[in-house]
Amino acid sequence: MDEDYDVIVLGTGLTECILSGLLSVDGKKVLHLDRNDYYGAESASLNLTQLYEKFRPGEKAPESLGRDRDWNVDLIPKFMMANGEIVRFLTHTDVTRYLEFKQIFGSYVVYNKGTKVAKVPANETEALSSPLMGIFEKRRMKKFLEWAQKYNDADPSTQQGLNISVLPMHEVFKHFGLAADTQEFIGHAMALHLDDDYLTQPARDTVEKVRLYAASVLRYGKSPYIYPLYGLGDLPQAFARLSAVYGGTYMLNTDAQEILYNDQGKVIGVKTAEGVARAKQVICDPSYAKSKAKKIGSVVRAICLLNHPIPGTADADSVQIVIPQNQIGRKHDVYVACVSSAHMVCAKDYYLAIVSTIVETDKPAEMEIQEGLKLLGPIVDKFVSVSPLEVAAEDGTNDQVFISRSYDATSHFETVCDDVHDLWKRITGEPLILKKKEGQEETA
Ligand SMILES: *[C@@H]1O[C@H](CO)[C@@H](O)[C@H](O)[C@H]1NC(C)=O
Ligand SMILES: *[C@@H]1O[C@H](CO)[C@@H](O)[C@H](O)[C@H]1NC(C)=O
Repeated sequence: MDEDYDVIVLGTGLTECILSGLLSVDGKKVLHLDRNDYYGAESASLNLTQLYEKFRPGEKAPESLGRDRDWNVDLIPKFMMANGEIVRFLTHTDVTRYLEFKQIFGSYVVYNKGTKVAKVPANETEALSSPLMGIFEKRRMKKFLEWAQKYNDADPSTQQGLNISVLPMHEVFKHFGLAADTQEFIGHAMALHLDDDYLTQPARDTVEKVRLYAASVLRYGKSPYIYPLYGLGDLPQAFARLSAVYGGTYMLNTDAQEILYNDQGKVIGVKTAEGVARAKQVICDPSYAKSKAKKIGSVVRAICLLNHPIPGTADADSVQIVIPQNQIGRKHDVYVACVSSAHMVCAKDYYLAIVSTIVETDKPAEMEIQEGLKLLGPIVDKFVSVSPLEVAAEDGTNDQVFISRSYDATSHFETVCDDVHDLWKRITGEPLILKKKEGQEETA
């Protein structure tokens, strides 16, 4: 342990593991520690014993739930956009070879004042029969989607006079004459915005998100999402394996007792029960550097065990359901993500549904997600938790301690990838360029 490293990473959350993988490939000598005896930190997948131990210390899992090893319960479930940034990380680092993916059957949205659930159409046939819009509105929606698809900065003839760098999104909606319900559907079920701030911001961000959604749907056909067999817990591990291949050292069950600094306040290493490890840089999640993180909110999540598919979803083995804020009088959307034994995350005939949102009131946390819980039908068991949303108070350039963001309430990985890019830039001073490999284009 008494050794010198380039970087010490604390906590094996996905963000930290992607970074230690990329830094190792880049030739850095990396030491990676975690206080837990499993990979993944906040983003771990737990078996039954670990799940009960975490939420109900002292209580054993009922035998009716079957074998421990059949369960891999994500603490923070997120789906991957088939064309999203996380998939680029995986393919460019070859980490995909440790993993197998399965398509998520469908993406659903709640409408009609929160009372009905409908599939987000994934192709024209589905769109024509969708109850979400009337016939004329469908035509207007089609025009908008075609415009978004074709929009090209270099070609004014594709722009219809709309400059998406400056024009706020609500003006674009107005241009296409889209009704409030359709706007909400595009903003929340396709672009996956968590709140309505996007309406007054330049349209580019939303247009790009809609394009990502559409391109991802095209890739597999039913929904834009894929999900790894055996749960998300295998993702951090896959990046950890990559790091190890390039000489990275991993130690679980090893806490950082203290982060050590020199007289100038710059980091010099980490103290553990095994001794002191020295390094000029430390990367960690907020739980390892409490005094340097600040809380910006809380996320409530309920992990629900079901023995049936979610009602109204055509018996799908996996779905996402978005409940847009306005449907239920909130300021943030409620998300439901459901996977099942088809994804090797629970025993046969079981389903795992996780309901999450941002906390808005002082009421008991479960009240915040009740509209999501209502959609699930009978629940076998339920584990509710509230986690702080934390970010670094400083960017880390002064003390060389770089703190990642907590995982937010979004149901996909795009914000996690933004954090990886942002941290990389702060750590190395350079933008992250995924290295070119045989037969691949170099991309920023
Ligand atoms: C559209 O989706 C439906 C339902 O998933 C499927 O049966 C149909 O083949 C799809 N049509 C096209 C043209 O892809
Ligand atoms: C759009 O607005 C940006 C920012 O003001 C400007 O740089 C760009 O030239 C505009 N594009 C067009 C096509 O007018």
